[in-house]
Amino acid sequence: LREHEEFTKVKNIAKIELGRYEIDTWYFSPFPAEYNDSLKLFFCEFCLNFMKRKEQLQRHMRKCDLKHPPGDEIYRSGTLSMFEVDGKKNKVYAQNLCYLAKLFLDHKTLYYDVDLFLFYILCECDDRGCHMVGYFSKEKHSEESYNLACILTLPPYQRKGYGKFLIAFSYELSKKEGKVGTPERPLSDLGLLSYRGYWTRVLLEILKKHKSNISIKELSDMTAIKADDILNTLQSLELIQYRKGQHVICADPKVLDRHLKAAGRGGLEVDVSKLIWTPYK
Ligand code: ACO
Ligand code: ZN
Repeated sequence: LREHEEFTKVKNIAKIELGRYEIDTWYFSPFPAEYNDSLKLFFCEFCLNFMKRKEQLQRHMRKCDLKHPPGDEIYRSGTLSMFEVDGKKNKVYAQNLCYLAKLFLDHKTLYYDVDLFLFYILCECDDRGCHMVGYFSKEKHSEESYNLACILTLPPYQRKGYGKFLIAFSYELSKKEGKVGTPERPLSDLGLLSYRGYWTRVLLEILKKHKSNISIKELSDMTAIKADDILNTLQSLELIQYRKGQHVICADPKVLDRHLKAAGRGGLEVDVSKLIWTPYK
């Protein structure tokens, strides 16, 4: 019921200002009532506090001393950094992030208990600070082996490969945990496109190397991608045959190359040697 109510609510905030961008919003987000009469909200790009008037933000920026997200920097490569924020330790930040994210996420209820989640914030850094580009959230403990709850690339940064970077990063964390993972469902259209692209590229590159002589279980062990997602991806590419009660991968190298070309650019790579992280306990 709650989901349906949100789904049918009209969009309240039409625009936000964040760092050097003014961004048109996509969906309703349940900001506290006193913000709902404003068409535009002004966010501090570092602590994510939001205000109704530009002058309030200007006053805030003079005293806000954050220049990057709170939490630990767990990855840095060139100008890209990732910060891990514990929703319990940085509750206000996490709630602000959820309000912001909901403006671009449709059928997701992501603002209940931020305590139970970790947030991975991707930033582009320069001499003015670390500017959020996107993020994903992850349950501290997932019964369903979810390794990602919500993913967002802020609209001005979309279609530049950051989404693929975030997805790849979520699987690198799963590899370090020694677990397989899968994104929480439902996926949005853009989410599904991005995941399909990621799964296709990762799996086909391995199949090419191993000349298809590999099982789904082995693929899953190597990539931390859940076996179901592997099977679905390969089935949709028509690379699976069912023989003697078993799924068998059948792929002609030419067919693999054709699919790989269609899967598009690889995007920004995660350099695992730059990831300094231990699993949450
Ligand atoms: N039109 C067509 N294809 C697209 C589009 C688009 N507008 N956006 C992404 N894609 C596809 C493309 O295949 C693209 O690869 P390509 O550029 O090589 O062709 C691929 O997705 C990924 O592109 P990236 O640039 O790596 O991804 P981006 O940084 O744009 O982020 C994301 C993708 C996170 C899904 C973004 O679109 C977004 O934030 N959307 C709004 C929120 C959302 O829907 N999140 C997912 C919800 S599901 C969940 O959270 C579990
Ligand atoms: Zn601030």
